[in-house]
Amino acid sequence: MQFIDLKAQYAALKDEIHKNMDDVMENTQFIGGTYVKELERQLAEFTGRKHCITCANGTDALQLAFMACGIGAGDAVFCPDMTFISSTEPAKMLGATSVFCDITTDTYTLCPASLEKQIKAVLAEEKLTPKAVVAVDILGNLCDFDAIGAICEQYGLTMIEDAAQSFGAEYHGRHAGSFGTIATTSFFPAKPLGCYGDGGALFCDDDSIDDLCRSLCVHGKGPGGKYDNIRIGVNSRLDNLQAAVLLPKLKALRDYEFEARQTVAARYNTAFVGKLVTPFVAQGCRSAYAQYALLAKDSAQRNKIVAHLAEKKIPNMIYYPTPQHELPVFRREPRYGETFAAANDYCARTFSLPMHPYQTEEDAKAVIDAVLEVL
Ligand SMILES: Cc1ncc(COP(=O)(O)O)c(C=O)c1O
Repeated sequence: MQFIDLKAQYAALKDEIHKNMDDVMENTQFIGGTYVKELERQLAEFTGRKHCITCANGTDALQLAFMACGIGAGDAVFCPDMTFISSTEPAKMLGATSVFCDITTDTYTLCPASLEKQIKAVLAEEKLTPKAVVAVDILGNLCDFDAIGAICEQYGLTMIEDAAQSFGAEYHGRHAGSFGTIATTSFFPAKPLGCYGDGGALFCDDDSIDDLCRSLCVHGKGPGGKYDNIRIGVNSRLDNLQAAVLLPKLKALRDYEFEARQTVAARYNTAFVGKLVTPFVAQGCRSAYAQYALLAKDSAQRNKIVAHLAEKKIPNMIYYPTPQHELPVFRREPRYGETFAAANDYCARTFSLPMHPYQTEEDAKAVIDAVLEVL
């Protein structure tokens, strides 16, 4: 059994993927090219954005977003305490300070009340300039964008949506990637829309931000092309081969994979409701279920379940065992008295089960039975 069965997906999409890849190989157009252009067009259309700019990975997408927003030394970038390090790592690289906020106890996304408290604390201290908020759609579940957007507006902060885990997810009729001045995503193979290597993308509506990101990702190129360098940028582009792989995968996500993820989640929900804390998805929203994460009663029970699953050779993961404020690299970031009670509790109790659109009922039953045996 696989945690994420990329082999089953490959078997389903093999012919189309190979046709596209052969075409790239025949045409030898490896950097940029028709598949990249078509992918950007389809991704922009799907997310309802005016622009999509592909790049080398999701971390670069965030770095490019931070660079485009002019984030640097002296700036505070607010981010949930429960996420992957990429959400603010590039801001830190640019000299900014990561200010972590607690998460909500239901969706595990950025807690609006904690965000506002941290913004006020930064303002009161008068050392850093509050600059941006990274709203992370953790585990595939979307943030409370209405509340976070209102706070960003009130305090004049730029909202960046980190949709690395949520491609396809919905929020009151809008897709992940459609929130914030800039949204970013990742095409890491295990993501809801993954390629065969690294890949990422940015989404925005503003023409000047689109121009700026396209310049930044090709060494700060100017109107005269790639040897007309007008700013310092990076080299971060999506390969044509990866775009050739992503196009059939995007179609599959739209046609059936997203719905199949809901079926898998519903099966687990039915089995575990009332016994463990099952994922909460707010009304009017649909999760991409990048992960299916449950909360045990306490960390002792979680560890017992995880050990039993390992014994039965059932793959499982912990996303994430350590909140950001406790990572060695971030231990000295200012906390402003925040205790991160919800993030600490989540990290102590969480574990994730196999989740992918190709799961058979037989495999689901094996997973469910193994968890129930411990309970
Ligand atoms: C929330 C989040 N943001 C950003 C990233 C970075 O994506 P990438 O691995 O493509 O750099 C990841 C990847 O795991 C992620 O989970």
